[in-house]
Amino acid sequence: SQEVEQSPQSLIIQEGENVTINCSFSKTLYALHWYWQKHGEGPIFLMMLMKDGDEKSHDRIAAILNEKNQQSSLFITASQCSHSGTYFCGVEAQ
Ligand SMILES: *[C@@H]1O[C@H](CO)[C@@H](O)[C@H](O)[C@H]1NC(C)=O
Ligand SMILES: *[C@@H]1O[C@H](CO)[C@@H](O)[C@H](O)[C@H]1NC(C)=O
Repeated sequence: SQEVEQSPQSLIIQEGENVTINCSFSKTLYALHWYWQKHGEGPIFLMMLMKDGDEKSHDRIAAILNEKNQQSSLFITASQCSHSGTYFCGVEAQ
């Protein structure tokens, strides 16, 4: 079984919609990182979450860590075309 999973796998949305992307993990966490990769570019580091309840934001993009549920959610508020691309999480296990 996979140790880190994201849902949904892909998403088509209209401009102005809010977006939620979840990342779930099965390891004891040291840190969770969110990245954003625009088409044809390298990944951009967005934020790092380390403790239960940690919440960070970067412009219209926010993420929260729920360690008990072994999950992190990334939210994009009022998404714009410029937000398109691939979002992924990376987990540093303890
Ligand atoms: C993401 O996680 C939240 C909280 O657990 C849940 O309510 C929501 O349905 C999940 N969405 C997806 C796309 O997995
Ligand atoms: C998107 O989220 C923001 C902030 O939580 C909220 O104020 C707004 O009503 C939401 N928009 C939609 C279309 O759900």
